[in-house]
Amino acid sequence: MLSVAVLISGTGSNLRALLDAAAEPGFPARIVAVGADRDAEGLAHATHFGIPTFTVPFRAFATREEWGEALAGRLREVGADLVVLSGLMRLLPAPLVDEFAPRLINTHPAFLPEFPGAHGVRDALAAGVDETGASVIIVDSGVDSGPILAQERVPVLPGDDEETLHDRIKPVERRLLIDVVRRVADGSLDLESPAR
Ligand code: GAR
Repeated sequence: MLSVAVLISGTGSNLRALLDAAAEPGFPARIVAVGADRDAEGLAHATHFGIPTFTVPFRAFATREEWGEALAGRLREVGADLVVLSGLMRLLPAPLVDEFAPRLINTHPAFLPEFPGAHGVRDALAAGVDETGASVIIVDSGVDSGPILAQERVPVLPGDDEETLHDRIKPVERRLLIDVVRRVADGSLDLESPAR
């Protein structure tokens, strides 16, 4: 059984979907801890499932590197086989990425390499494209630049705003994320040499 730690910053709706999937009989992974860089609303989903949570507040540290060291310490304690960034809105410092990648994955609300960064949905709207997407990637030291594990197109519809478009993307992200975690857990996706 694959042990998974999930890191979030926000409402954790994708986390919730992963928790629901992991609670299904036969799902080959279990969520062992959920962490956040702030007092994130989504931690309540983990508590609901009786899963331990932790917070390593970004603002409590003088530098990103010190925050990353503290976060890496918590992840080591948890001892997860896989770390999932599910809406963690912070860049991870290189030493943490080097320690955990490629068993460190991220979900992103755009069809990477299009629209990386913190505003993938807003940037797609601003660019006026008629389709965007969702991606699950291995984290590397760049911004959403790691190997792509799964991705799918999502249409942009006339009249969309950031919220309506993000609401259309998130169910696709959830499906892709759950599928990637399942495939890592059952051995059909090897993160050391991923082939889509
Ligand atoms: C998700 O769409 C996730 O892909 C995005 O934040 C949202 C979190 O939603 N992450 C990024 O944009 C990272 N660059 P949630 O808290 O409702 O799961």
